[in-house]
Amino acid sequence: MEKFLTLNTGNRMPIIGLGTWNAALNKVGAAVEYALLRAGYQHIDCAFVYHNEKEIGQAFRKIFTNDSIKREGIFITSKLWNTFHKRADVLKAYKDTLHDLQLDYLDLYLMHFGIAIGQRGTDDEPLDENSYILLDKTPLQETWGAMEELVKAGLVKQIGVSNFTAPMLLDLLSYANIIPSVNQIELHPYLQQQNLIEFCQHLNIAVTAYSPLGSPGGLKPDEPVLLDDQILQRIANEHSKTPAQILIRWAIERKTIPIPKSTTFERIQSNIEVFDFNLTKENLRGLNRKYRFVNPFDWWNVPYFD
Ligand code: A2P
Repeated sequence: MEKFLTLNTGNRMPIIGLGTWNAALNKVGAAVEYALLRAGYQHIDCAFVYHNEKEIGQAFRKIFTNDSIKREGIFITSKLWNTFHKRADVLKAYKDTLHDLQLDYLDLYLMHFGIAIGQRGTDDEPLDENSYILLDKTPLQETWGAMEELVKAGLVKQIGVSNFTAPMLLDLLSYANIIPSVNQIELHPYLQQQNLIEFCQHLNIAVTAYSPLGSPGGLKPDEPVLLDDQILQRIANEHSKTPAQILIRWAIERKTIPIPKSTTFERIQSNIEVFDFNLTKENLRGLNRKYRFVNPFDWWNVPYFD
């Protein structure tokens, strides 16, 4: 099993990354250090809106200044939040993220969602009296154009999108001068999105799988617990692996790039130990429930995925 995917730029992206969404302050820095220095990760996934980039940046500075690991050997992603979609705001948002992460460049900068909302240039997202989010009527074409400028200025290696559906991709491709390198979407056996994956791969857009473990840290009381799934547990027992390892292996066998989040050292370690077995005899297709754990409708009242 290859440990990298080659992107449409010719650069390589490590097939597993450490996710940092909901990674708590006072834990995330140590988790990133452990992942890079001890567990062998070469890929960290960040975002402005996770509100932990400053602490991750302190970890990066420690790691890259003592020279034990070279910056060029690590793939680092961050994401433009939805309140910075105006052309004039994109460069500033990018530079602010670089500053917080204490880096000179990112390997990948993603448009976090294909929607512009909130109080422009801040991360304030006011809801109106009917609980609808304040909309910022900026076309995605403007935002993508500003992201392309980052590439042309040599500030970022790759740009891409996140939470993009097929119609959104098609629209973007109608004007894009730079094809997105990546679309980062929610993927796990309960939300398989096989057609969207194949469509992205057909377009030479690599697919990153977020919440690959079924987002167990943030479940509402009535939500299904993927890690407790009986079929998954049986497969895990048969392979003498944990359910999480089965899910991560399943993601990489689909040629997607899982970014499991953990701040627990043992889990960070075991989540990357997935290269000594395979699932070729297993079929997880029947687990699909088209169930989304991450749905912006819950936050903004916008039926984004409906
Ligand atoms: P923790 O950070 O306390 O280790 P996802 O990436 O699907 O959103 O999942 C992240 C959640 O899964 C976090 O709550 C994380 O908890 C938990 N998690 C990460 N790795 C494992 C694992 N190997 N087994 C069980 N839970 C895990």
